[in-house]
Formats: sequence, structure tokens, C-alpha cells
Amino acid sequence: MGPQSQIMVLFGASGDLARRKILPALYNLAHDALLPERFAVVGYARSDGDDASFRDQARDAVRQFSRRPLDEERWRRFARLLFYVPGSYDDPGGFGALHERLARVDEQDGTGGRRLYYCATPPAVFPTIVRRLDESGPHPDARIVLEKPIGRDLTSARSLQDGVRAVFDERQVFRIDHYLGKETVQNILVFRFANPLIEQIWDRQAIDHVQVTVAEPIGLEGRGSYYDNAGALRDMVQNHLLQVLSLLTMERPGSLADEAIRDAKSMLLGTVRPLAPEDVVRGQYTWGVVEGHEAPAYRDEPGVAGSSTTETYAAVRAWVDNERWGGVPFLLRAGKRLPRRTTEVVAQLRDTSTLEQLFTETGAERRCNSVALQLQPEPGITVDFRAKQPGHGVSVQTVSMHFSYGAAFMVEPPEAYERLIADAMAGDRTLFVREDEVERAWEIVAPVLEVPGPAFPYPAGTWGPSAADGLLPPGRKWHLR
Ligand code: BG6
Repeated sequence: MGPQSQIMVLFGASGDLARRKILPALYNLAHDALLPERFAVVGYARSDGDDASFRDQARDAVRQFSRRPLDEERWRRFARLLFYVPGSYDDPGGFGALHERLARVDEQDGTGGRRLYYCATPPAVFPTIVRRLDESGPHPDARIVLEKPIGRDLTSARSLQDGVRAVFDERQVFRIDHYLGKETVQNILVFRFANPLIEQIWDRQAIDHVQVTVAEPIGLEGRGSYYDNAGALRDMVQNHLLQVLSLLTMERPGSLADEAIRDAKSMLLGTVRPLAPEDVVRGQYTWGVVEGHEAPAYRDEPGVAGSSTTETYAAVRAWVDNERWGGVPFLLRAGKRLPRRTTEVVAQLRDTSTLEQLFTETGAERRCNSVALQLQPEPGITVDFRAKQPGHGVSVQTVSMHFSYGAAFMVEPPEAYERLIADAMAGDRTLFVREDEVERAWEIVAPVLEVPGPAFPYPAGTWGPSAADGLLPPGRKWHLR
């Protein structure tokens, strides 16, 4: 059975997120017949416009950003689902017009009064939207989707969540961290818990340290004023990286039920030690060349203050203080204008005394066994291990064994937003972040947000400041460098 009939009310309908992600995702869901049978999208934003202009914008968005090319016949059917109401968030009158329109769509299209309120606006607007909805409430048949970042620190996150809780029950709230919608991030649980080969070594006895890198060659893409107020710690570490860390390290959930998984993640986050200033290195890019193109210095980007000290790169050393992981450093780093797009987890194994005893004299390579999960752009898994080099005598070499998702399954996975929107429409909360996880993640980063440190310059197109090397255990290197 597909999701129930409903209307998605898209706040921020003329914004970047709607254009790049949400509208193309909806088009692909329509293509796969995964939308409710009776469904409509009513866009709401400050920009002037009407149904026709919204459909034109959506068409452009699909043409540019959809993973599938635009097909005219399908487009015509999809476009009929799109409506637009212009209005401000401060003005109750605008919301009055919105609700009238929603009632009319319900009447004409049989969408049954159910709503999915999707806040794709800058986060500063969320509290106003929730207040406006409260004025027209109650909303027993509604769900609300909130995009990250939820607040900019613990206090603002709490106050936002209090506002949301006054109108919606936690069951109705869907907080997006789009990394959870990525196929390869979901695979972390299968990889860990469906494979004794991995499950047996996934602890501090076997693992020396873990590196998680989210490298992006892109800069700010027109988001300068948002980013300059956020920085990499708020934009990536507090959410995507801590979510990936929790999936990598959580204990086995009681089942695959949504609350079982969220309980396991939440419990794990409770054991992550709040970051200490010595566990963080910040960087900011200067002029350089990325993927063959010149890139301006961060401070010369539109929307960025000329004297900005905001970090465009953050590397943190996180500690999970529990029996399984005590003493194992988790190095998490994210940066803009790095050499290439790649998201990778590498678990480096410890060497054993056997190696020392038997092979030291034979030229054993010092590179240890490792398991690397490539999350994007080419999802796959690589295991590095040692083998005897052919020939007389015993000479040990490190070799790689590689599994590629693309080659193994020959299907193109859905975009993260397709999966997440479909789940929100169906009311499945598994891949959404619970209130307590958001707050705990802010607690973890709070000590370093409160004490701003220097942002070391690094030229665009390099792997970040060398000061980050100091976070690694002695003698270890960044896997990607
Ligand atoms: C977003 C951040 O949440 O994630 C962006 O705000 C970042 O700054 C993006 O570029 C990265 O997502 P992805 O899916 O491209 O890895």
C-alpha cells in the first residue's frame, strides 16, 4: 500500500533546496509511481508568482538537477500536481490565503485534509512558520519536515524544538539529515551486522583508529551569507559526521524498527565525549586551483565578510567512551575546496605481535590492514591486506580487494531526498533524527563552538591545513592526502 493521500506544503518553494533537491526528487518519485495516489504540492514563498510560474521554475529545476532526464509526457502529468501561493512568513494573512488554497485543492483533488509541511527555508524562519501553523491549528493529521541545521547551538535548538513541540507531537516531526537517506550510509548497518567477518573485528581490540572524510571541491554555491554564519563544524560535523559516527559505532539495535535504531544511535551519542579544544583543527581556504579551475579565497566569496574567521574545514578527534570503543580515536573531517569529491570511512586495524615476530625481517610493509567504505561518489568497499610477493624468499606487500556497488548491483540507487520524502509521506521515521539526538550532537560540539580557535589557511585544492596531522595517533597518516 502506498502512502495516504496528502498535500505537501513546501515552504521556501522558490529557494535553492527546493530547486536542487526537493522538486527533482518529487519528479523521480512520480516517475517511480511512489507518490500517493491523490497528491499535490503547494509551494509557498515570499517571491511573487503563480501556479504557472512555479511550474516553469520546477521544470527548469528538474531539467538541471533530476537524476533522470525530463520526459515531456511524464512532466505534463507531474506539473498538474504543482500549485503556488506567494506570501510572507510574518503575515498571518499570507497563511490565511495558503489555508484557503489548501482547502480548495483538497476539495478538487481529494487529498483528504492531510498535510506534510516541509520547511525548506533558512532555519531562522522555522519558528515563525511553526507559530503561524499554531494559529491555524490543531494539526492532528499533519507531519512536519525540518531541514538541518536545527538551531545554531544547544540553546537555540532547544527553543526551536520547544516551539515545534507546542504544535506537533514528536511522532509528527521529521528532521532531515540527508546523509541518512544515502544508500551507502544505510548500508553501514548491513555491512556491520550482517557480516560476521566485520562484526568480529569492530571494536577496540582490533581497530587502531577510524578516519571519516567528507571532501568537497565546491565552494559556497551562492550560500555565502548562510555559510559564513555557520562554518564546517555547524554545517557538517554537528549533523552529518556525527550521524555517520553513530551508525559506525552504535551497538546492535534490538530490531530494525525505527525507534530501536534511533534508541541505539541516541545511546551511542550519549557516550561520545564533548569535543575538547585540543581535539579540533579548523581551516579556511585561500586562493588556489581545484580540479583545474581557479578558486577565489573564501574571504573573497560573495556574502562572506572580508575579515571572516569562519572555518571551511574542520577536523575533529572524537572519543567514544564505552567498553567497545574506549581509547580508539575517531578522526572526522569535512572541508570545502578540497581536491575532489569523496566521502570515505577508513577503519585501520592494529598490527599484531605475529607480524612483528615473523615478518619484520622480511620487509613487511608498515601499512596496516584496513577496511574502507567509499560512500560517494563511487560507492564501494575496499579491504587492504598483506600478501606474499611472488618470488623466492618471503616479501610482504599490501594489496587491495575492491567491491563496487555499481558493478555488483547494476542499478542506480535513488537520491537521498527521494528516499527521505517517500518515508516522510509514509510516516516512517527510521531515517530521521530524533530530538534527543539533535540536542546531544549540539552538546558534543558546544565546547569548541564556545571557544573559537584559529582557522589555519590552506590553499584551495589541497587537503586542508597540515595542523590536522597532529590529531592522528603518532606515526599514522591521513588515508586521503
Ligand atoms: C549540506 C551542507 O548539508 O551537505 C552543504 O549544508 C554540503 O554545505 C552538503 O555541501 C553535502 O552533501 P552531499 O550530499 O553533496 O555530500
